[in-house]
Amino acid sequence: MKSYPENRRVDGIGKVTGKAVFAADQSPGHVLYGAVKRAGIPHARIVRIDVEKARECPGVRAVLTADDIAGVHGFGILVPHQRVLADDKVRYFGDGIAIVAADTEEQARFAAEQIEIEYEALPTLSSPEEALKSGAPLVHERSNLAVEHRVHHGESERPPDAPVMLERTYRTQHAEHSYMEPEAIVAWPAEHGGIIVKGSVQNLFSTRRSLAAVLDLPLNKVQIIQTTLGGSFGGKDEAMTLLACRAALLALATGRPVKMVNSREESFIESYKRHPYRLHYELGADKSGELRSMQIDVLADAGAYASTSQFVTWRSTVQATGPYRVPWVRTRVRAAFTNNNYTGAMRGFGSPQVNFAIESLMDELAEEIGKSPLEIRRLNAYRDGDFTPTGQQLPGKVTVIEALEGVARACDYEKKWAENRARQKETNPIKRGIGLACSYRGVSLGAEGIDAAGTLVAIQTDGSVTVSSGVTDMGQGAQTAISAVVAEVLGISLSRIRFLNTDTDRVPDSGPTVASRATIMGGGAAHEASMTLKKRLLELAARVYGGDGSDFRLENNALWRRQERLASFDELAGKAFANGLSLMALGWHKTPKTTWHEEHGQGTAYFTYVYGANAAEVEVDTETGQVRVLDVWACHEVGKVVSYPQACGQVYGGVVMGMGYGLFEEYYQERGIPRIQNFDEYTLATALDAPQIHASFLENPDALSPIGAKSLGEPATEICAPAIVNAIFNATGRRIRELPASLERVLLGRQLRRHGVRTSLAKETP
Ligand code: MOS
Repeated sequence: MKSYPENRRVDGIGKVTGKAVFAADQSPGHVLYGAVKRAGIPHARIVRIDVEKARECPGVRAVLTADDIAGVHGFGILVPHQRVLADDKVRYFGDGIAIVAADTEEQARFAAEQIEIEYEALPTLSSPEEALKSGAPLVHERSNLAVEHRVHHGESERPPDAPVMLERTYRTQHAEHSYMEPEAIVAWPAEHGGIIVKGSVQNLFSTRRSLAAVLDLPLNKVQIIQTTLGGSFGGKDEAMTLLACRAALLALATGRPVKMVNSREESFIESYKRHPYRLHYELGADKSGELRSMQIDVLADAGAYASTSQFVTWRSTVQATGPYRVPWVRTRVRAAFTNNNYTGAMRGFGSPQVNFAIESLMDELAEEIGKSPLEIRRLNAYRDGDFTPTGQQLPGKVTVIEALEGVARACDYEKKWAENRARQKETNPIKRGIGLACSYRGVSLGAEGIDAAGTLVAIQTDGSVTVSSGVTDMGQGAQTAISAVVAEVLGISLSRIRFLNTDTDRVPDSGPTVASRATIMGGGAAHEASMTLKKRLLELAARVYGGDGSDFRLENNALWRRQERLASFDELAGKAFANGLSLMALGWHKTPKTTWHEEHGQGTAYFTYVYGANAAEVEVDTETGQVRVLDVWACHEVGKVVSYPQACGQVYGGVVMGMGYGLFEEYYQERGIPRIQNFDEYTLATALDAPQIHASFLENPDALSPIGAKSLGEPATEICAPAIVNAIFNATGRRIRELPASLERVLLGRQLRRHGVRTSLAKETP
């Protein structure tokens, strides 16, 4: 094993000692508490809202509805139709109708419950299939078709003839992000007439943009500061914009700071989920198993609002064929509006669904042909110089086969696979299985948007350093990764660096912290800033000690000329100050250009790609359907490992999250009514379920990344579910085509109807 420098997590001490200040820990003087009156009905026209009783309640300082909003009512990254407070109608169960500020949380919640709303119930759309039927009621003004993307690859009208044809349909479920910390925020009216909010926000700049529009304020009067986040996984974007706007409206109405914290139940019913997909694949191959064609039709549930559906489904479109050469491809991915929870960004962002389908399908092809799943992948997987279905030649070294071979060797795949298969018919009810899955994934935003970010590095006069970035840490370790880049360039220890929480007043708009882009973008910008400062320091050294800047180097917290240690880093910083040098620099990193032509789905979708493979070994109890995941081997090509413990952490968390998605998790709604509203019913994988995880990394510094590093956060979670499902097949011969692979699906091959699930917040509607 290669050794890596310094292993400390820069924000670790605050977290393990309990000193970290999370959003809900804030309690400023004179603070009021905010509460929301939510719809509790999935689809209805609002006839009348009566807030009089609520206004009379003890402790109440303000009650607001959509009529009290000064600016626009709606927000949204592409389609600004999500209401801060519903005005004309309710589109899903969790929609907010009115907000209350009161002296205590109890008073605010009590008053919110006294708000009376008269509805005219509308028919509920509970699936995208239903929503796209002609004559279906509309969720918004126009069509229920929210998104449609296509990829058209291969000239001939019809797919080329193929002796082997497979047609399969897979389904995935709604999933909840399950961050430990529910959404929380405090908003203050600012002395300049604007607003300051501090909270658990993942994407500060999109929240700021929406908040400014809703309050009708310029961006420079809206300040968003990030508190320490207890997880996000893509989830604290629109969910936090809602909370920020509501708290800000109440703060400006009352002239007092307002705190709002969602309970877990509120978080469940209001927040967006991972998109459920129905994936239909038709595959053509020759007798050896070499792929000739794929026709893919995907339908996703966008829920009540557009959110990031456009982009989530676009990633699915680009990656739907998996990391395989397919000469002829027709892909169509659509999403439809329904009256379910809206769906949006969640770690993986459109990849876990298509990876589940394509990686299951490759195993089904192997079965059909009579080859091992490893052989079938080896035969078809991308190699150097291959083209994707969007017409892009893969840049640099293509390492998917290397990753696959790596995990296969580590787990002794071929031998175990053959043995388990032979044992399926034995009488012992406990069966073993081993499964593989692999992926390729576009790095960062790709042709989805402008891709640039900034990081500010400031060396203090005593040689300590502060770093602030436009990309954020939500628990994934960006602080450590970005600090590690600075430490390496300046030749200093990590302990000298303090990473400041992101503040929109102090750093440039760097886009959203999504798409596994924090390390490459924030780190890339940190690299540029640190290089600027290093150059300044070395030029100063040349002036002070004589000679050329290139004679000097920064290493081990000191300035060196060959073997001679000239000054400590502290002394050097002091000298720079005494010489009137600026030791603050803003680095900016912009990715290489990407292109996209929507009509045929062609273009340079992402400027570069990462590759990875998982193998999972399971034990299945064929008398109960219980699956225990024993070991997972995960190999990822990440360009360059910036921080080894952080990289392992991403893989450990990613595997367990992927395992929960594969085996347990499902947010279940019945005709728009959430039947699961807390963790007593939403089953997460816990530490006790966690398998032994064997993480390994392939390094192949990417010429298109200033620090050589690419992405890991999402790759780490996107292929665990199919590896497990393939292992279940290897153990039992039962193919699960619908997630999660619950006890019933493993035992009986179908999901039993759900009975008696608690419905405390539900008002049954026709
Ligand atoms: Mo992420 S799911 O791209 O926030």
